[in-house]
Amino acid sequence: MLDRFNRHINYLRISVTDRCNLRCRYCMPEEGVKLIRHQDILTYDEITAFTRVAVAAGISKVRITGGEPLVRKGVAELVRMLAAIEGITDLSMTTNGIYLADYAMTLADAGLMRINVSLDTLDPEKYRHVTRGGDLAAVLHGIEAAQKAGLRPVKINCVIKSNPDEEDARVVADYCMREGLEVRFIRQMDLASGTFSVVHGGTGGHCAKCNRLRLTPEGMLRPCLFSDRGFSIRELGAEEALRQALEAKPERGTSNHVNGFYNIGG
Ligand code: 5AD
Ligand code: SF4
Repeated sequence: MLDRFNRHINYLRISVTDRCNLRCRYCMPEEGVKLIRHQDILTYDEITAFTRVAVAAGISKVRITGGEPLVRKGVAELVRMLAAIEGITDLSMTTNGIYLADYAMTLADAGLMRINVSLDTLDPEKYRHVTRGGDLAAVLHGIEAAQKAGLRPVKINCVIKSNPDEEDARVVADYCMREGLEVRFIRQMDLASGTFSVVHGGTGGHCAKCNRLRLTPEGMLRPCLFSDRGFSIRELGAEEALRQALEAKPERGTSNHVNGFYNIGG
């Protein structure tokens, strides 16, 4: 799929829920987010049907995100349904890792290929503080379980304040080196200001090379992280939503007023 600026759009990020079992300070308000009504959330059948059309149109990479995808019931079943679509060459997930120890094997069995785990510090107290209550040990067990399950590569997403030389980032980098994990540093973004983040060692944040579309839990297809625009796959149907989202993909992102990270999955 080519957009108006000749970018190859081959990457679909699917957010399966706004909910999260953590409350990271840079992502979510303490009280959490307004819950979406049950009937407004896409079913796994709807997500799969849409993805099938998107893959026929040229999508080959699919990532499941949240919120926290592992808090949505039966998400491994969605993985299995997506893995059965011919033409997906890369099927991945982004998780905070809290429940990963329990799910890693099931996810790998269902056809998940690789996984990204968010981890900003290896200090248990700091982790608890930043995430407002998260248990670092659970995440570390989850990472280990993912490696044992054969999810490869396991990548670590590490949010940094300003640069990869800061203390927490260096400690995370050392840990990743020792454990055979890939690390990606993501500069903390302020979505309200629309400030852009360069992802060190990743492909995000470069408008000229942007290859992605995003599907929200309610079935809005969003052309850009930094845009309020979205096209309802329920109202328009898959083909038309894809056509309009592609057409609306901006050359460059500006600012976004309606979303937090929790409902676009980064
Ligand atoms: N800036 C940068 N990254 C963020 N994430 C959440 N909020 C922000 C923010 N304000 C990251 C998480 C995770 C991914 C889902 O998005 O740390 O890696
Ligand atoms: Fe949850 Fe990830 Fe947001 Fe933290 S950054 S509150 S883990 S969605």
